[in-house]
Amino acid sequence: MVRSPRLLESILVKDFSHFHDHGFHFDADLDPLEAHLFNQEGVRWRALRNKLSPVFTTGRLRSMAPQMNRITDRLVDLLRTKSDSEVDVRNLVSRFAIDVIASCAFCLDSGALENPDCQFKRMADTIFRPRRYADSVKPLVRAFLPSVARLLGIRALPGDVVQFFTEVTTRAFQHRLKEGTVRNDFVDLLLELKIRGDAICEGTETEPQQKRLVFTDQLLAAQSFIFLGAGWETVSTAMALTLYFMGRHPEAQEEARRSVKKAKAAYGEIGFEAVKSMDYLDHCIAETMRLYPPAAALFRVCTRDYVLEDGRRIEKGTRIVVPVSGIQRDPQFWGPEADRYVPDRFRPAALKYQASYRKEDDAAGLYHREDMEDSEVYEEGEATKKEGITKMTYLPFGVGPRMCIGRFWLIPTKRFNA
Ligand code: HEM
Repeated sequence: MVRSPRLLESILVKDFSHFHDHGFHFDADLDPLEAHLFNQEGVRWRALRNKLSPVFTTGRLRSMAPQMNRITDRLVDLLRTKSDSEVDVRNLVSRFAIDVIASCAFCLDSGALENPDCQFKRMADTIFRPRRYADSVKPLVRAFLPSVARLLGIRALPGDVVQFFTEVTTRAFQHRLKEGTVRNDFVDLLLELKIRGDAICEGTETEPQQKRLVFTDQLLAAQSFIFLGAGWETVSTAMALTLYFMGRHPEAQEEARRSVKKAKAAYGEIGFEAVKSMDYLDHCIAETMRLYPPAAALFRVCTRDYVLEDGRRIEKGTRIVVPVSGIQRDPQFWGPEADRYVPDRFRPAALKYQASYRKEDDAAGLYHREDMEDSEVYEEGEATKKEGITKMTYLPFGVGPRMCIGRFWLIPTKRFNA
């Protein structure tokens, strides 16, 4: 377990080439939807990340804004019908997020807002809520006894769920090809990859041989699937908890409302630009994710023996856990009131997060680089230090070349909260 900011910087950023894998193994024959970016390793991961990065820029997000706006309008209509009754916010947020993901990643109107029991949501629920008790034990066997799991043919997901998401992705391609329209969304990007067919993964020092990454329908379905797996619970948790905290802290809510109203007055409507300008709402979301990071830990595995500054050795194969929640509540870094909800602590530093939204083609500049050892994210880390937060102590999205690829999707989160 690593908690020292200095060591974290070495592992996650400076010497990333020794620690580039998450260490979650999968068997693509048994579990085709597990072959997604989060699980990929080495040169295949790097090639896939480069190919997927363009869709995660703010520019692409902007082109998906009409899709998201339509869903937000439906949400507002729904809320109007419930203005004098109690609303289960967690459930509502979760349905909103699933409609956004279904639309942008699967070209599908899932209708979860109006129908909580729709098929898409039922299938998605299976990812996080096992259907039977036996299913909840399976992930443990897969994580700690992978050879036993393989021997017993234990799969990550039930067959009908795999079939559903594979078919939905294939149908999305067919639909888009037939429609002939370009929306610049995730489906379009995957379609481009499918048409191109494959990519060459250049070798590295540890993996000298060139490899081919073939974009089969299954591999592409796995990438759509991770949109759901990595984006649904994380975004829903951040949105719902921010609303909860604002309810508990009326002064923060008032200040956030002021930033929303200011943006509305300046831009006329709550569009993409307006959302980006809502500073105080940013601070509220950042503080929520400090106290309750949707991903409570980061994982790495050492892929090449590594010698620490003091001469100690980390051997190849060693697993590394970064306890994000612990670090983000440590009084050493966050002061005696580390457990309190204080959005103001992000006032100066939030500039940095906004600046990162503004980097239009961030992904092209950041992750298309051949060199995996350092990145611009590291320089952002420097900025954090300047602005009063100790470097490497605020990690809700991770840091370095393996940082969350979907972090700009926080913008729809802000729009929802606004
Ligand atoms: C509040 C929202 C989110 C949070 C807090 C979050 C957090 C994280 C974290 C901590 C990681 C691991 C980073 C590391 O190992 O250093 C990660 C990776 C990832 N996230 Fe997110 N995430 C969020 C939203 C999303 C969304 C919306 C998507 C998809 C659209 C997404 C897709 C991914 C993917 C594909 C990876 C794997 C990246 C790689 O291995 O190269 N995330 N996320």
